[in-house]
Amino acid sequence: MVLWGPVLGALLVAIVGCMWLLGMLRQRRPREPPLDKGSIPWLGHAMAFRKNMFEFLKHMRAKHGEIFTVQLGGQYFTFVMDPLSFGPILKDAQRKLDFVEYAEKLVLKVFGYRSVQGDYRMIHSASTKHLMGDGLEELNRAMLDSLSLAMLGSTGPSPDASCWHEDGLFRFCYNILFKAGYLSLFGYTKDKKQELLQAEELFVEFRKFDRLFPRFVYSLLGPREWLEVGRLQRLFHKALSVEHNLEKCGISNWITYMLQFLREQGVVPAMQDKFNFMMLWASQGNTGPTSFWALLFLLKHPEAMRAVREEATQVLGEARLEAGKSFDFNISALHQMPVLDSVMEETLRLGAAPTLLRVVNNDHILKMSNGQDYLLRSGDILALFPYLSVHMDPDIHPEPTTFKYDRFLTPSGSRKVDFYKAGKKIHHYTMPWGSGVSICPGRFLALSEMKLFVLLMVTHFDLELVDPDTPVPPVDPQRWGFGTTQPSHEVRFRYRLRPAE
Ligand code: HEM
Repeated sequence: MVLWGPVLGALLVAIVGCMWLLGMLRQRRPREPPLDKGSIPWLGHAMAFRKNMFEFLKHMRAKHGEIFTVQLGGQYFTFVMDPLSFGPILKDAQRKLDFVEYAEKLVLKVFGYRSVQGDYRMIHSASTKHLMGDGLEELNRAMLDSLSLAMLGSTGPSPDASCWHEDGLFRFCYNILFKAGYLSLFGYTKDKKQELLQAEELFVEFRKFDRLFPRFVYSLLGPREWLEVGRLQRLFHKALSVEHNLEKCGISNWITYMLQFLREQGVVPAMQDKFNFMMLWASQGNTGPTSFWALLFLLKHPEAMRAVREEATQVLGEARLEAGKSFDFNISALHQMPVLDSVMEETLRLGAAPTLLRVVNNDHILKMSNGQDYLLRSGDILALFPYLSVHMDPDIHPEPTTFKYDRFLTPSGSRKVDFYKAGKKIHHYTMPWGSGVSICPGRFLALSEMKLFVLLMVTHFDLELVDPDTPVPPVDPQRWGFGTTQPSHEVRFRYRLRPAE
């Protein structure tokens, strides 16, 4: 009988431990947001969330209001939906919310990169130095040359370039932006023709990884897909290996600066290769898809296309792209294109759907804009999904699902920055780049790169949809929450190089 005591005790501890792990013991405490654990132990709402995050959050907001906590695969996420309450979260003056902890785990899993002390701060300071201001001017030049190379080839347009060519618009845009971005940031060998071919091959592999990415993050891959992801990771580590850097020229100062920091920290070359893969992903995963949406919206809205072409002709003047020659165009003119700026901002409003995540470090109080206080529990994750809360809010953006190319223009034609919710001026009226500590450090480069691409496409090419009546395709529901969305299917289009006038 005496022996049974410890056995029963251990059993009880194991049962309680299991129940705790499965989330069955968690109860809503006073002042905490509404808690929705879902009906399946531990998994909670994971299936519905992963199937279509946008629809799931819409449903939860209708059920619980502007703040709620849901269980997703054993982890509790508190979503704040009211954009007027974002301020204290993004400023985080009390330093109770942590971005780095979650990000470190994710990049280890996805890219194999193990973070070192200070690298997160270093990425942001490298970006301030080389992806903004004077550093950006230099990179923009390199980007323009790479875009010209990717669009016209290394020996110039083929004799049939002025005939119509048919392609998938998504593939076409992603492919060009990827090749141009990759070559400008990671450099090239002397043989540009060969390098362009390699960039093309790398793009094919990049897309394979890209397609698996959402389910990889959610740990939903089948055994074969796991093997494929492992192969792709190794392929990218090798393709971006720092060992080859000595053979390359034109590696951007941004990459050079960051790799030097890692070397000084004693990070081994194999880990630097993984860092490069992470940077390739961050820099190339969104610009292609965003440029696709931008061109598609222009093709579907002739009045917008006319306005952009008119502005572009004024800005470009006589400048014309010619293979192998530097394009005679003052890049600072990109700053004087309010119509194209508005088109890009509207495209990002409709196309960019990131999730912002912060780990709650200590229990603390969040004050909402309506004056109500909520207790956030240590260890939970605080999440924002601005696409639903901001981009699609009809109060902030009337007719939110409609593309309006001049939505971000004032009647006098300058940039519009005044937007309101419930009569109050709202600071975060779009958030394609995230915000606060984790805001995208490449946003200025991304914008100028995409603007250059659109500018060159609309001035140098005739473009048309194969079926002009084809509707804008719906978003692939798997991509909600992962930066720029992707279409659920391709859109066929035709293009031909315009003859020089
Ligand atoms: C349309 C293009 C782009 C979009 C929509 C975009 C969006 C974003 C977003 C939303 C984040 C923050 C993610 C978070 O909060 O966890 C982010 C992070 C990041 N982006 Fe971008 N991005 C774009 C292009 C670029 C480019 C061209 C570069 C570099 C050349 C870049 C470099 C980075 C880096 C390094 C991070 C991680 C920053 C950190 O760890 O704090 N991005 N991007």
